[in-house]
Amino acid sequence: MEIKSFQLNHVGRFESLHIDLAPTASMAANVTVFVGSNGAGKTSLLKSLATSLSWFVARLRSEKGSGNPIPEEAITNSALSASVDIDVYYQDNSYNWTIAKTQKGKKGNLSSNLTEASKLADFFRASLSNDESTSLPLIAFYSVERVVLDIPMKIRGRHSFLQIDGYDNSLSHGVDFRRFFEWFREREDTENESGISQEILDKLQSMVGPDSEVWSKLAQLKASSRDKQLTAVRTAIANFMPGFSNLRVRRNPLHMSIDKHEEQLNVLQLSQGEKSLMALVGDIARRLAMMNPQLENPLHGDGIVLIDEVDMHLHPTWQRNVIARLTDTFPSCQFVLTTHSPLVISDYKDALVYLLEEGRLSALPSQYGQDANTVLLDVMGTSARNADIDSKLNDLLDAIQARQFNLAHQLMIELDAELPSGNMELAKAKLILRKQELRRAED
Ligand SMILES: Nc1ncnc2c1ncn2[C@@H]1O[C@H](COP(=O)(O)OP(=O)(O)OP(=O)(O)O)[C@@H](O)[C@H]1O
Ligand SMILES: [Mg+2]
Repeated sequence: MEIKSFQLNHVGRFESLHIDLAPTASMAANVTVFVGSNGAGKTSLLKSLATSLSWFVARLRSEKGSGNPIPEEAITNSALSASVDIDVYYQDNSYNWTIAKTQKGKKGNLSSNLTEASKLADFFRASLSNDESTSLPLIAFYSVERVVLDIPMKIRGRHSFLQIDGYDNSLSHGVDFRRFFEWFREREDTENESGISQEILDKLQSMVGPDSEVWSKLAQLKASSRDKQLTAVRTAIANFMPGFSNLRVRRNPLHMSIDKHEEQLNVLQLSQGEKSLMALVGDIARRLAMMNPQLENPLHGDGIVLIDEVDMHLHPTWQRNVIARLTDTFPSCQFVLTTHSPLVISDYKDALVYLLEEGRLSALPSQYGQDANTVLLDVMGTSARNADIDSKLNDLLDAIQARQFNLAHQLMIELDAELPSGNMELAKAKLILRKQELRRAED
């Protein structure tokens, strides 16, 4: 399932804006990225999509279900009503629906039409009625408030998770770590009941030694009894976070632990960036696993994933490969992302990148392979260097060019005092200045 396009009418700062999402005729990949300055409207776009999709999800849950309304404050200040039209494509059919909102006590000219959202949802409900293990499409929105690792203090009674529960809070909270934890524990219990628990296995290993034949047989047995859905989550986390493995629930006291290289850590001890990535990837993987019980590899399940500020908390190295990791790990999901990072868009070849400026949208030429400074300058409209230093360096070069050597020396002394020794630009300028002075001496 994928969103072909959507249109905002009087939503936030957008009067009327139509947006095609990848894959398009010219861009086969399934990643669209929005960039733009603070307040450009990136979050408004994702929220509008989430609102619109919430109606499909609600009607999948129940025939007359209601999704989220467009919030009144999102209606453009000068307008009476707002609407979001969406065009969703599924199995060669296109489904269009509109969700609209009018200011309280006013009469607007936009109205909702959800007939086709219902039709698409009906299709899935009918499939579920025929076959309980039918796959459902993942639909999730991860807002910037996504990283709250909320771990229950005690274990509630057993909880059963249906496929459709994969949609719980998927368009409001994003990461639902409490549910993640409960689900993980539930699956782990079942896994342990049908096989040998990790704790027993650890004890056996210390008794027989890791090189013995008994141990290798036990390990094989253990691998074959692994829960497919938990394996999916563990694999996704390992793909994103090299060096991290063995996510599991521990009791007394109740907590979730993960091994970072050789060290065992409570997940609450992880750094903000580690938590943020683990929660995001774990949540996508868990939902896909729940929704695709029939798939051999649930990570290959179909879906639409919206992530606001995908670079949030990530070190540049992780920013660089975040899109590639998302698309490698979840190859059948369509991604709609926003970012402030030049590295996110310069390291992935097949993303459709849009720049939002003054309420207008423009598709950018591929930024693949561009260096970060060029992206900062060309796309993000900001200098790669501190503006003061930049202008002084320019003045220095101008002075050298104009053979104003006294001024050049004075600027050089100022820059020398301000910049760390070994600054490349300054070193180059010094060289040019020396050459010019030599030339003048020769003349
Ligand atoms: N009802 C409204 N009418 C007109 N303009 C609005 C309305 N609501 C929001 N805006 C404008 O939309 C902007 C908010 O957009 P949004 O939060 O989507 O920006 P963003 O691109 O996500 O920014 P950031 O990068 O800071 O998160 C505000 O700066 C405001 O100018
Ligand atoms: Mg935003």
